[in-house]
Amino acid sequence: MRTQVAIVGAGPSGLLLGALLHKAGIDHVIIERQSADYVLGRVRAGVLEQVAVDLLDEAGCGARLHAEGLPHDGFDLCFGGRRHRIDLHGLTGKRVVVYGQTEVTRDLMAQREQLGRRTFYGAEEVAIEGFDGTSPAVTFRHGGQTHRLACDFIAGCDGYHGVCRASVPAGAIQTHEKVYPFGWLGILADVPPVHHELIYGNSELGFMLASMRSATRVRYYVQCPLDDRVEDWSDDRFWAEFKRRLPAEDAERLVTGPSFEKSIAPLRSFVAEPMRFGRLFLAGDAAHIVPPTGAKGLNLAAGDVALLARALDEHFNAKSGEGLARYSERALSRVWKAERFSWWFTSLMHDFPENGSFGRRMQRAELEYLCQSTAAQTAMAENYVGLPLM
Ligand code: APR
Ligand code: PHB
Repeated sequence: MRTQVAIVGAGPSGLLLGALLHKAGIDHVIIERQSADYVLGRVRAGVLEQVAVDLLDEAGCGARLHAEGLPHDGFDLCFGGRRHRIDLHGLTGKRVVVYGQTEVTRDLMAQREQLGRRTFYGAEEVAIEGFDGTSPAVTFRHGGQTHRLACDFIAGCDGYHGVCRASVPAGAIQTHEKVYPFGWLGILADVPPVHHELIYGNSELGFMLASMRSATRVRYYVQCPLDDRVEDWSDDRFWAEFKRRLPAEDAERLVTGPSFEKSIAPLRSFVAEPMRFGRLFLAGDAAHIVPPTGAKGLNLAAGDVALLARALDEHFNAKSGEGLARYSERALSRVWKAERFSWWFTSLMHDFPENGSFGRRMQRAELEYLCQSTAAQTAMAENYVGLPLM
């Protein structure tokens, strides 16, 4: 088998890259370790920046997003028992769209199937070779057979635990990491949202986030200890804890109900540099992880693959190597800014017992300053709605 671009991983990065390459008339194949249903079973954040919405439109995959996504012009910060609105649209002229990442993945998969582009789900023993020379390839087992996919380039879209980054010699890659001492316990439930916009809360009991998937479905989170297990959290315990972290008037209005999904996610900041190794290009979670505060993960991934698709289009269709040569530098410049924002927002909103009372007072002073200063709110809003793609 031969193709121009072998894409490893069918998460949002690999699927969006495939859609953009299809548009550019570039032949490609996706190789995914899991089944499509397994990939669709993963629940992740749900806030899209305008840049990501535009890319999904460009890929011809924006119809349902426009019909069902919820445009949000602002969100609330909550501390000291009160809510304060950050007017995203008033401050930046931009808004975000609340639409589950699972739905983005579903839309991309459906379009891909309709286009009849090649995807190998359930591939085993996936390995990459030759990317430091001129003839890279991806090998894997599928349907009881061993396959070798020769290609011009490999796109490593295989997430944090993937094989692509792990195949780079240790001396060629530098990694930067921060692990946070807590997790997020999240639930999905079919109840009306407590508020029509998102609420990010800093309470003495820890962080809370009231998000949603629709007018009848919520995604709520509370900060929890890293060693907690989902089994430790009955629905009753979750609702009681969530309520205690809300301002009294919101707690009174809160509608509770049975959850149909509950999971605990650890929080991590991680960047691998560079994002190119010869003919291997990393994109999305394979190259970087952000903590979910601010929902930058999918948006960063979309930015990476847009740059990569553009660079591959230049290479194949305009015979220019400039975009590929500058991919890593351009992508990382945006990645580091989103890493900084996600780290800052995480640091501002969570309980860090090891920082003691001084740390708590610093958070409080910064939150009060934010609520008084249009300049500080603008800086926050500008990052939240997303920085421009270069
Ligand atoms: N071979 C083939 N596929 C693999 C391999 C492998 N060895 N290892 C992992 N994969 C697949 C995973 O099963 C997964 O479907 O690569 C895919 C990577 O998808 P994500 O982890 O979702 O990463 P990415 O597509 O970069 O998504 C970025 O979306 O999923 C979120 O948290 C993520 O918000 C971030 C954004
Ligand atoms: C979500 O809806 O799951 C979500 C929203 C905003 C975040 C993180 C997660 O910052």
